[in-house]
Amino acid sequence: MREEALAAIQGAATLDALGGVKTRYLGKNGLVTAQLKTLGSLAPDERRARGAEINALKAELEGAVAEREATLRQEALNAKLASEAIDVTLPGVKLPSGGLHVVTRILYELSDIFESMGYRVVEGREVEDETHNFDALNMPSWHPARDLQDTFWLENGQLLRTHTSNMQVRYMETHEPPLKIVVPGRVYRYEATDATHESMFHQFEGLVVGEGITMADLKGAISEMARAMFGRGARVRFQPSYYPFTEPGADFAIWWDQEQRWLELGGSGMVHPNVFRAVDDLRAAKGLPRVYEGKTGFAFGLGPNRIAMLRYGIPDIRYFYGNDLRFLTQFKGDLSNETPSELPPLPRDTLKETM
Ligand code: DAH
Repeated sequence: MREEALAAIQGAATLDALGGVKTRYLGKNGLVTAQLKTLGSLAPDERRARGAEINALKAELEGAVAEREATLRQEALNAKLASEAIDVTLPGVKLPSGGLHVVTRILYELSDIFESMGYRVVEGREVEDETHNFDALNMPSWHPARDLQDTFWLENGQLLRTHTSNMQVRYMETHEPPLKIVVPGRVYRYEATDATHESMFHQFEGLVVGEGITMADLKGAISEMARAMFGRGARVRFQPSYYPFTEPGADFAIWWDQEQRWLELGGSGMVHPNVFRAVDDLRAAKGLPRVYEGKTGFAFGLGPNRIAMLRYGIPDIRYFYGNDLRFLTQFKGDLSNETPSELPPLPRDTLKETM
């Protein structure tokens, strides 16, 4: 029985099977227990010798069971550890993440360039009134230039701003000179959509007002921006143009060395005295002092979409706002793949003002 029992214990492949073997030999009705029960019928001497023998067997089997149980438990644990093992040194699964839109990146880049020149970044409203979008910018209702910009009118008589120039008026209305601001933002035109026209697009406006500001300052600012955006060798060209809110007005282009051609970027000019007068009128109506008459300043407005189209060879402006990830993710849109130093600099929030 001893041999048989030890073999059964060793042969038990699972804890369950071992439990069965244990019951069979050492349980209340087990074989070893049954042997102990026969002791009563023996003579005292014999009983003592036989009792010791059976108890020794019992102890040996209990020890064997305990040992086998420990082995089986360890094996079960090892199997579990092996099957559930996690290699913490494997690279993690990268979840797709959002990114900055290509136009946002250009606006950040531009904002940062001008902030480094001491400009303040200002954002403004997109729902505007005629006064700030047109009249105060020397574009009264009878002015032919007003036909050049097709406007989305709202039912309450307001409009969606057709350019970021509205912020020239808004800012001067509540701030005194000297001032240097840039305004990134969305603008709206009621136009047929095609490869170069969208009914919503972005502009980047600049305004500098002070004492004795000249066209040379304007040229300096645009040249500085061009060098920062397109490299040290970038050249800027100004050509006379007409904008009601400037006198004189000029379009500017940047020499795109890589493609060996001029890239028309935007409009600019010296702030028209009528704009200063209109702003002072708006201030006076608010009980604020007239501080703009006699001042000089320059302004400019450019198209970030155009910069992106030329820089990245984007053939159609409608790609920008179509929200097609196949387009958007081409511009290092997945921030998780970028190290912070590769990201475009963020405008310093402390300088940012929303009106
Ligand atoms: N607002 C003009 C436009 O939308 C762009 C512009 C031209 C802005 C000349 C200016 C400027 O500030 O001086 O076409």
